[in-house]
Amino acid sequence: MQKDYILAIDQGTTSSRAIIFDRDLKPLTTAQAEFTQHFPQSGWVEHDPEDLWSTTIDMCQQALKALDINAGAIAAIGITNQRETTLVWDKHTGKAIYPAIVWQDRRTADYCRDLKAAGHEDMVAGKTGLLLDPYFSATKLHWILTHVDGAMARAKAGDLLFGTVDSYIIWRLTGQAAHVTDATNAARTMLYNIAEGCWDQELLDLFEIPAHMLPEVKDSSGHFGTTHDDLFDGAAIPILGVAGDQQAATVGQACFQPGMIKSTYGTGCFALMNTGDKIVYSSNRLLTTIAYQLDGKPTYALEGSIFIAGAVVQWLRDGLKIISSASETQALAESASDTEQVYLVPAFTGLGAPYWNADCRGAIFGLTRNTGPAEIAKAALESVAYQTRDLTEAMSADWHNTGETVLRIDGGMVANNWAMQMLSNQLGAPVDRPVITETTALGAAYLAGLAAGICAPPDEFAASWKLEKRFEPNLDRDYSDTLYAGWKQAVARLLHDPE
Ligand code: G3P
Repeated sequence: MQKDYILAIDQGTTSSRAIIFDRDLKPLTTAQAEFTQHFPQSGWVEHDPEDLWSTTIDMCQQALKALDINAGAIAAIGITNQRETTLVWDKHTGKAIYPAIVWQDRRTADYCRDLKAAGHEDMVAGKTGLLLDPYFSATKLHWILTHVDGAMARAKAGDLLFGTVDSYIIWRLTGQAAHVTDATNAARTMLYNIAEGCWDQELLDLFEIPAHMLPEVKDSSGHFGTTHDDLFDGAAIPILGVAGDQQAATVGQACFQPGMIKSTYGTGCFALMNTGDKIVYSSNRLLTTIAYQLDGKPTYALEGSIFIAGAVVQWLRDGLKIISSASETQALAESASDTEQVYLVPAFTGLGAPYWNADCRGAIFGLTRNTGPAEIAKAALESVAYQTRDLTEAMSADWHNTGETVLRIDGGMVANNWAMQMLSNQLGAPVDRPVITETTALGAAYLAGLAAGICAPPDEFAASWKLEKRFEPNLDRDYSDTLYAGWKQAVARLLHDPE
């Protein structure tokens, strides 16, 4: 049978999606299902592993049906996923022994503080490029092994397996045949040595993790396994591409040259700058990570992670109820008074990079009797631009970049022209929006298509990247800087007075 399609699976934080691309990487159909978020205690976030699996497989079936094609026409599967989220399952029964602990979960904050106090952060950061924060998998995995009855003994006996979401989905797709991950996902566990390209025994000892529960780490483009006969009417589809969602977006945006930056605006915002084959350790509280790994060679990135971006617009809609749909923010921001200068710091769950403060909470500064919904909506959109500027300033301080910076943007929020113009004004640099803003799935499809021999090498793929709109700064630079100084002051006030 002619194999004309690539199936991309995007298992995200709030929904699972399946997108089918043709051989030219044109997206043809998308199926998407949300699933329940569980918040068993303040600061805890869990997913039911069965929900992750059932929504994923259902969406694959739904996408095939929508396009009216047989699974046999799929040449390859590419997988991208919410990163860091931690699963442990029984190798014999396939059953997870505890819900998936989601990347946003803060339950290990005290454990991280203890490890820092004991002086371990330099060693951990030097090997992994990450900071000792609950965000990453290692402390979550340690928590499961030390809080679920008998888990540590079963892990030591070799009965339990650990994986990030990609690993778990591949294990299920292959009928429990493959326990694997890719280098980008491994790099988010805080157990992986990004310079040596292997699980690190000193880190495994520190977090008390038995080595044999870890998956095999592979390139982002290559053979991860083949789907089990029971799943797709007997079709054995190879899984040929895997990358964490932010890294997949970096690939989808063709940020293959050192210095190129992409920024994805979903619930949060994650900006990655390609640093080539050089590991750049941040002096400005950014993360160092693997952007992708091809032919055994890792390409590294500096990453800035903001936890609230699009979610602040959701809050205007669902919390404050001053809008009924996200698109209304544009007209509201345009109508806001120029004489009001309101700052909204959306630290709903603390602040990520470069502040890394889990305890502070959000605040609004500069309210007057004239402040209304328009000024608050404007401040919410501006907060996204200011936070991105925080990241890019930290990036250029780390990278000593003298050349022109161009930021490639994607994610739901980039449809908002007002917010993207504000972003360009704050950065004092062009901001480029591509024709395809489904870059996460595109990146996963490309990695799979590359291994399948369907897609062209990276430089040719990069040449096919198409600009839809470029935003150029159109505001006086001094005035933009004055606005930004006000933001820095607002954050400083919040951090000095955290609760
Ligand atoms: O690091 C967390 C990130 O991978 C989550 O992405 O888009 O699923 O919220 P998303």
